[in-house]
Amino acid sequence: MSDYQAMQAELTGAIAAASDLDAVEALRVAALGKAGSITGLLKTLGGMSPEERQRVGPQIHALRESVTAALAARKAALEGAALEAKLANEKLDMTLPAAAAPRGSVHPVSQVMDELAEIFADMGFAVATGPEIEDDWHNFTALNIPETHPARAMHDTFYFPEVGEGAAQHMLLRTHTSPVQIRTMMEKAPPIRIIAPGRVYRSDSDATHTPMFHQVEGLVIDRGIHMGHLKWTLETFLKAYFETDDIVLRLRPSYFPFTEPSAEVDVGYRQEKGRRIVGGNGDDDGHAWMELLGSGMVNRRVIANCGLDPDVWQGFAFGVGVDRLAMLKYGMDDLRAFFDGDLRWLSHYGFGALSVPTLSGGISA
Ligand code: DAH
Repeated sequence: MSDYQAMQAELTGAIAAASDLDAVEALRVAALGKAGSITGLLKTLGGMSPEERQRVGPQIHALRESVTAALAARKAALEGAALEAKLANEKLDMTLPAAAAPRGSVHPVSQVMDELAEIFADMGFAVATGPEIEDDWHNFTALNIPETHPARAMHDTFYFPEVGEGAAQHMLLRTHTSPVQIRTMMEKAPPIRIIAPGRVYRSDSDATHTPMFHQVEGLVIDRGIHMGHLKWTLETFLKAYFETDDIVLRLRPSYFPFTEPSAEVDVGYRQEKGRRIVGGNGDDDGHAWMELLGSGMVNRRVIANCGLDPDVWQGFAFGVGVDRLAMLKYGMDDLRAFFDGDLRWLSHYGFGALSVPTLSGGISA
């Protein structure tokens, strides 16, 4: 056996016996590294005579190749064994929760807006939106509230400074969601059935008023719409929202510039442990009426302002305070707490992010 063959036997034996990847690497460095034994042999080729090199060269190269192959084989074997061991040891507990339970909660106002969308979707209403920074025309003029109208003063409007000489529109923070009626009628051809929930702003602040609050507007435009449709819609909505069939409404003649005739809608309720419980006839013993929302048949002028023919298209509209609806249903008594951002209040009154209101699964989720 030549020296080279002896060396090959010794090296491949050691490699085959290497117990881990570090040992394989150490053997590789010892044989093929910069100062390795085989590297040293290769270096001697340069100093040999051509004949000698021809004789010895192939033997050294064969040695290197077999050692390289042995190293690769042992490495692969050890890696395969390591993977097997890892797979055998590693267990995935499929019953563990995928992520930590979500923190925080859904604000009652968001919850109620979701509930409203769900209830009205069932009646064929889409959800419409409009900008909170509105212009004077959409917020007032188109809604039949001309500049001289006292309703403008009543709304305690936040106006933006007028920009530029003779600015086309005076911008403001919308005082109600009614401008969404105008935007919808101007954008979409009737028939129209929408609700428009959102933020509104008025310069007013006490226990029952905050400068920002929420309303939901409703609008139906079609042929042959009358107040019976309005009353049925409101009754159906309030029964679903308060989750009781015992809802009695009282429509009281009222005035809004954008509806004619207009009606304020009261709902019967009773007092229980200091809380208002909606339901029952307000004229019955132990009951009373509470004003809940404004409504009416859309004023002909408003329909015409939006480019529709009021002899062809009629409709009804209504507007409700969302915060008020939330307070009544979930028993909160201070409106200001809604917007304090107190986490204790939120965790008490908030809703789970994953409990989405549905008509089938329970609207209050
Ligand atoms: N926009 C009125 C308000 O903010 C509420 C309202 C009343 C809306 C009657 C309506 C309506 O659509 O028909 O006080």
